[in-house]
Amino acid sequence: MNNKRKIQLNWSREAVVYQIYPRSFKDSNNDGIGDLQGIIDKLDYLNDGTEKSLGIGAIWLSPIYKSPMVDFGYDISDYMDIDSQYGSLETFNKLIKEAHKRNIKVIMDFVANHTSSKHPWFMDSRSSKTNPKRDWYIWKDPKPDGSPPNNWLSVFGGSAWTLDKTTNQYYLHSFLPEQPDLNWRNNEVKKAMEKVLEFWIHRGADGFRSDAAYHLIKDDQLRDDPPNPTYKGVKNSYKGLIHTYSQGRPEALETMNTFCSILGLHKDKYMVSEAYLDIPEMSKLYKACSNNLHAPFNFNLISLPWDAKLIRKHIDDFEASLSKIDWPNYVLGNHDKPRVVTRVGEKRARLLAMLLFTLRGMPFVYYGDEIGMKNEDIPLGKQKDLVGNRLTANRDGERTPMQWDESVHAGFSIVKPWLPVGEKYKDVNVKKELSDPISMLRLYRQLIHYRANSYVLLRGSYRSLDLGDNHVFAYLRELGDEKVLVILNFSKDEESVSFPYQKANVIYTTNREKENKIVNLKKITLAPYQGYVLEVKG
Ligand code: NOJ
Repeated sequence: MNNKRKIQLNWSREAVVYQIYPRSFKDSNNDGIGDLQGIIDKLDYLNDGTEKSLGIGAIWLSPIYKSPMVDFGYDISDYMDIDSQYGSLETFNKLIKEAHKRNIKVIMDFVANHTSSKHPWFMDSRSSKTNPKRDWYIWKDPKPDGSPPNNWLSVFGGSAWTLDKTTNQYYLHSFLPEQPDLNWRNNEVKKAMEKVLEFWIHRGADGFRSDAAYHLIKDDQLRDDPPNPTYKGVKNSYKGLIHTYSQGRPEALETMNTFCSILGLHKDKYMVSEAYLDIPEMSKLYKACSNNLHAPFNFNLISLPWDAKLIRKHIDDFEASLSKIDWPNYVLGNHDKPRVVTRVGEKRARLLAMLLFTLRGMPFVYYGDEIGMKNEDIPLGKQKDLVGNRLTANRDGERTPMQWDESVHAGFSIVKPWLPVGEKYKDVNVKKELSDPISMLRLYRQLIHYRANSYVLLRGSYRSLDLGDNHVFAYLRELGDEKVLVILNFSKDEESVSFPYQKANVIYTTNREKENKIVNLKKITLAPYQGYVLEVKG
């Protein structure tokens, strides 16, 4: 690394965000479950101010609030307290202090679409039709034949309605029956949730990841969702309907704007919202907040096929769709999707890491992806993700304990962890990879630090290049006279390409090669799945 300049990062555009699944990061109190003190103990690994650490600028914590854990925290029973499995409000204060000391911002999960069915609000709401909290959730009479009020489906399978015997009405749940949907058309709900945002902002939270943002508001007439004419799979599958009325309503955008206006009352806040969308739908979400403190996640790199042309097209189209003030982001993995190495293999995952850190915008990293952790196959009887056990794909595989070292339980805990540690942990772990010059961790660290020290990567423009090669994707990042050229070979074969430039310095390559070597761009040959980051002269 040559570039020693220290740039003051504008965190909500320039930080690398690292997602922590708190249950699986580090267990400090020997109960087999990760916790907040465990995260504090590992903050130096994430950023100790030197290039020995990963160098990220923000952490996003999956939910740590009080919860019956039916959906591991995405079912909240108290928005203003920490679950005792993870610590207390005091530990949270300490986490904020220690994170901020290291220039790490803290993003909280904001689960606004639904509460736990054990939340006192829902317990009150279900108790009688006249309870003051009745309208805080969405209740409806059965149809005359006793069936649910409409055809809406739960994302996790089956009807989105459950009949509650106490009052013989159905309540709506876009996810599990244990996650009843709040009624965002009710003003008291809005006020109560605004207080939640204020509560965490006052405790030092820097931003929020808005869960299930697209679901927040449903059609006021509860009209049936139309069938999906292109779907040929099993009956009652979520994909069998087009969710015109049960999600993505224009009013959801107004709600997002309310969140942003709260953020806008405070300095330097940011919100990213969860919705799996194509470019036109993302564009709508970009427009949701009038104060530009928000971006939707771009998850498309997770789902696009392995095809250089399609990936280039997506990035070009996405860039073209953004207004001057919209800020892009990219994601390779999270706690709901199979890990990147499992999806594409290790060599390709290295190439994607290079893509992630050299594109314009905010990169999101899922814990463990930086060391190349894989999904584990958890046998049926041992699975913990109820969503998977009951309904769709099990998500335990991507949530196994962080692999810190080769000691028993991978250094995550000294007792048996809540999920088994990865089979390959003796080879794939932080300690080992820190001293391995060609490890995935080394590549991540180098790219993250290079990016943090490079004005052109942080603030420069993006322009993809026509090479007449279907397998190589190359783009320029430019700022003033500076040019960084990224060349990525998506092919399993060697590929040669040429550029209208003479020479360039090799900053990084995914393959073992000496840094700062000069290459001739008139003809450059890339090994299978090789990527280059180059500084172009002239
Ligand atoms: C999206 C979260 O990422 C997922 O883990 C959760 O199950 C659903 N929202 C419901 O909250």
